Amino acid sequence: MCGIIGCVSDKDCYGALYDGLKRLEYRGYDSAGIAVLGEKLSVFKKKGGVSNLSAFYARGGTGIGHTRWATHGAPSDANAHPHRAGKIALVHNGIVENYAALKAELEGEGERFSSETDSEVIAKLISRAYRKDLLSAVREGLSRAEGAYAVAVVAEDRPGELVAAKNKSPLVAGKGASGLFVCSDIPALAGTADFIARAEDGDFIRIADGRIDFFDKNLNPVCRDFTRPREELRALSVAGGGYFMRAEIGEIPRALEDTLSALKNADFAPCARALRSAERIFAVACGTAFHSALVFADVAEREAGVPVLCCTAGEFRYRPPVIGEGDVLVAVSQSGETADTLEAVRLAKSRGAYVVAVTNIGSSSIESLADFCIVMRAGAEIAVAATKSYNCQLLCLYYLAAQLLFFKRARLPEWFSALDRLPEAAQAAFSCFAEADALADRLKGAGAMYFLGRGTDLCTAKEGALKVKEIARVFAEGYPAGELKHGSLALVGEGFPVACISTCAALLKKSESALAEVKSRGGYCALFSQYPRALAESCADFKCLLPALPEALMPAVAVIPLQYFAYKMCIGRGFDPDKPRNLAKSVTVE
Ligand code: F6R
Repeated sequence: MCGIIGCVSDKDCYGALYDGLKRLEYRGYDSAGIAVLGEKLSVFKKKGGVSNLSAFYARGGTGIGHTRWATHGAPSDANAHPHRAGKIALVHNGIVENYAALKAELEGEGERFSSETDSEVIAKLISRAYRKDLLSAVREGLSRAEGAYAVAVVAEDRPGELVAAKNKSPLVAGKGASGLFVCSDIPALAGTADFIARAEDGDFIRIADGRIDFFDKNLNPVCRDFTRPREELRALSVAGGGYFMRAEIGEIPRALEDTLSALKNADFAPCARALRSAERIFAVACGTAFHSALVFADVAEREAGVPVLCCTAGEFRYRPPVIGEGDVLVAVSQSGETADTLEAVRLAKSRGAYVVAVTNIGSSSIESLADFCIVMRAGAEIAVAATKSYNCQLLCLYYLAAQLLFFKRARLPEWFSALDRLPEAAQAAFSCFAEADALADRLKGAGAMYFLGRGTDLCTAKEGALKVKEIARVFAEGYPAGELKHGSLALVGEGFPVACISTCAALLKKSESALAEVKSRGGYCALFSQYPRALAESCADFKCLLPALPEALMPAVAVIPLQYFAYKMCIGRGFDPDKPRNLAKSVTVE
């Protein structure tokens, strides 16, 4: 959600904070702010993007910055962080769940608030506890807060010192030539920090006297290892400008290649026992990652004959799930920090289940919680809309499904060797872009559309619809092709667009019937298939030939023209594909 950064440097830190916020902007971009501590504490905060801060400057080596994704209180200058209270300034990512009660109590004691945020409440609590010892004050102030937080705090009479703390929201510390840092995540420090260390829940970090120290919840010193950030997380700019989303779609073949070689070198033996004996598997994730989990559920159940229950992480927690010892939970998260997914993992672990995680970010929270973690090699994904990470998630999950079969039945699926061809097939899918472009141009004025599919094609349809909704801001629904006639056909009239993904030979005719139902009501039909004959015989108005792979693997390539289609729709409608409205890259609140 929000991005926080803090810096202590022997040079002016404004530039480092500003650049850091620019790199963090994918976490939220409805307002931004910086506090710099020099001869005095100066706070600048503005509604809108980080670039609004370029109008300000202050000298000083200690500072904090924030880029906001609003939860409590609308985007406004007043609700933007940093929040000042007495001598301190604070930036916060997370949600203080008991903020209303705390605020009422503080107001009863005469405190006046200048924002509607939950964050200002903790700023006040820390300020009231502050008596020259910033670390103790942060601890005391936060001891009353329930919920998730990562905070960074400075005090106007303590230049050269910064204190940060975390509970359930991500926080890393970094050391680089331009200073010592705390930050919401590793990719945003890439290129700035040469060494990074991830804080654990309950940790406090103090930067002072040229060093970074970690403390546990009782303020006893603890050791956290500093390591070099992975090479592929370093470059965060698009060569030649342009949009990250477009560049990241272009990186899919490379990302698949890198992920494939990482998988080939991975040792799955540690999870052999759990997979071999698993009688039930649960798969959880959110958003795009959930769609990859749906594909996994279909493929793993079919191949290994194990029931796989797939559920969005937010729903899983409140069912409550019948999960326990002997079960395996597969949790998928690009960022490794999604609050709902992490809570699902914690719940599964507390019931004795074995957890396998798939993530793009090594040393993320999900990796530290899981019993076994598969780290894909998609590289930093900056555009908010997930693209290359989805393809790589699918690859990892195919691999996992294959291991499941191997451990259970001592054989690999028929399609296993074709995984080697996935990068090449992804590259071949780029030849669909000209058609996807034309389709986007035709449909950019549409008010709504359906994406139809059956089996794993339904997962692709859902992912295509999500991309269109989030970046092109067109209502879209991924729908089972066979369900259309049970009510939803009511929306289909003259020109209503329906895209159908049909990659399963046994279901081609069924999908075609759905398109015929649409066509006979005047709808506009688009068909995506790797079967030339299916396309030739279809009544569709628009036809796109996909590269061919074994059917089980088709979701990893069939989605590529849909990702590109959504991107082009978005551009055609005049929106920024890298910054969808009301979305954040990493959803660290529930
Ligand atoms: C959509 C998108 C989101 C994420 C979801 C889960 O393009 O990016 O739907 O997929 O918020 O995020 P992760 O995978 O980081 O857990």
